[in-house]
Formats: sequence, C-alpha cells, structure tokens
Amino acid sequence: MSTRDRYAVIGYPVAHSRSPFIHTRFAAQTRQALEYGTLEASPEDFESVVRGFFAGGGKGLNVTVPHKEAACKLADELTPRARRAQAVNTLAISEQGGLLGDNTDGAGLARDLLNNQRITIAGRRLLLLGAGGAARGVLAPLLGLRPSELTIANRTLQRAQDLVAQFTELGPLRAVGYEALGNVPFDIVINATAASLAGELPPLTPGIVNARSICYDMAYARDDTAFVRWAHERGVARAIMGLGMLVEQAAESFYLWRGVRPDTTSVLVALSAELGS
Ligand code: ATR
Repeated sequence: MSTRDRYAVIGYPVAHSRSPFIHTRFAAQTRQALEYGTLEASPEDFESVVRGFFAGGGKGLNVTVPHKEAACKLADELTPRARRAQAVNTLAISEQGGLLGDNTDGAGLARDLLNNQRITIAGRRLLLLGAGGAARGVLAPLLGLRPSELTIANRTLQRAQDLVAQFTELGPLRAVGYEALGNVPFDIVINATAASLAGELPPLTPGIVNARSICYDMAYARDDTAFVRWAHERGVARAIMGLGMLVEQAAESFYLWRGVRPDTTSVLVALSAELGS
C-alpha cells in the first residue's frame, strides 16, 4: 500500500475537476508525499462516501458542486469563515479527530483579485451578481477589501436582501433586482450566479459597465463564458474568468492540510496552458 497521504475532490459530476492537476503540482513543488484523486458521489451517497474516505485513512477532501452545504452540515467543527459562508469546500481532520470544515473560496477570490490580477477593490463600486451559496461564500472577504459600496443583484430579490441583512455589519451593502440596477457604471462586476455553468447570462442592462469596468466571472471554462463574452461585447477594460480563484482556493486548502504555502503563479500558468491546449 502507498505510504502517501490521500486527498481527493468530491463532487457530482467530478470528472472535469482541475483540482487533481493543481494539487499534484503543489505537492511536487513543495515535496509533500501525497496523492490526490477524484471521488464521485451523488447527494444520497455523499455522507457515506465521505465517512468511508476518512475511515480508510484519507486526510482531506475538497468539496465541490453540489455538496458544499451538505459538507457544512456534516462537519463536526467549522472555521469562522465556513460558518459565515454556511458552506464548506475543504474538509480536514480536526485536532480532536473529528471533521473540520473550512471554506477557502472567498480567500481564493480575494487573493486572485489582489495578487494575480492586481485589481484594487478599496474605494471602488462593486457589483456582485447572484445571491446563492457562491455569493455568500465570497461576501465577507470582498467586504474586507473595503469597496466604497457593494451592490448585490439577484433574480430573486429576497435572497439578496437576506444576504444584506446578514452581512450588513461588515460594510456598505445593498440589494437590488436586475431591472433596478440603473445606469451608473460599476468599477468591478463579479458574476457569482450559476448561470455560466448552464451557458446562460443574468438579465444585465448595458449601462452597468463602461470602458473602465472590470468584469470577473467566478466560473471558468475552456472557452469564454457567456458573461465574459457579454463583457467583451460591451467593451469593458478587462473580462476575466475564475481560473486564478480556483488555483488560489486550492492553495488555501493545501495550506490548511499541509502547513505549507505553494507557489500559485507557476501552477496558474500551467493550468492556463492545459486549458488552452
Ligand atoms: P451556488 O451555490 O452556485 O451559488 P445556488 O445557491 O443554487 O448555487 O445559487 C444560484 C445563484 O445563481 C442564484 O443567485 C440564482 O438566482 P436566484 O436566486 O434568483 O435563483 C442565480 N442564477 C442561476 N441561474 C441564473 C440565470 N440564468 N440568470 C440569473 N441568475 C441565475
């Protein structure tokens, strides 16, 4: 049997996941003896597959769609940022031997915006599209970057209002429906809806961006997402997909598990090349 510590990403489906590519490179780079695979589990099987993995000696899991809320419920202990997000993308074994749930998505987005994309959020008008789990997970880290305002737009207005009520102490937040976004352009628009995954686009009005705006889709794909195409058609300054966020959230998980911070730049370059090929 292998003496390497075992890790995996669990999802449904999971075959497309880039996490094995990323973590295998992190491990080689930092000389950590580990292997990283994929685990497919339907929602009905999620709990038993997770328990089986850890009972069999597994050391940690990344959790992806559609299991992040289920992982949050399953964890014995949550980090403060996972509790705020009410979603878990990383499971580890806690000091007490139970399951520790963390959420590194928001930190991953913040790191990508600041370190890789060199985008200044402080003092800027920020628009977040969507009010589901993905949006909730990044709200606190985004507010931590001190935008002058953060507007949440969602199809179902009530969900955006609920987020505002919950996070209002952390910064200047407001909730609107798409039709009420108005014509004052935002500096930065971040797409946290699930629309890209379905090849769809939220009902955006042209006036929300101008030639200086930056658009960021938390989703990524081999080709441009519908949101990135929309942004280019509007002539924005930059339109970015969330590949860097993916690598950065992975690095945060790796750090939680191994106590070592991998270099993300080289892995992001390798992953971009892999996707482009
Ligand atoms: P996730 O964990 O990916 O955020 P979710 O909690 O189901 O998944 O939330 C999906 C988000 O994408 C919601 O904000 C949803 O809008 P509603 O709350 O109004 O349903 C948004 N969404 C999904 N498809 C969309 C589409 N085609 N246009 C606009 N918003 C969409």
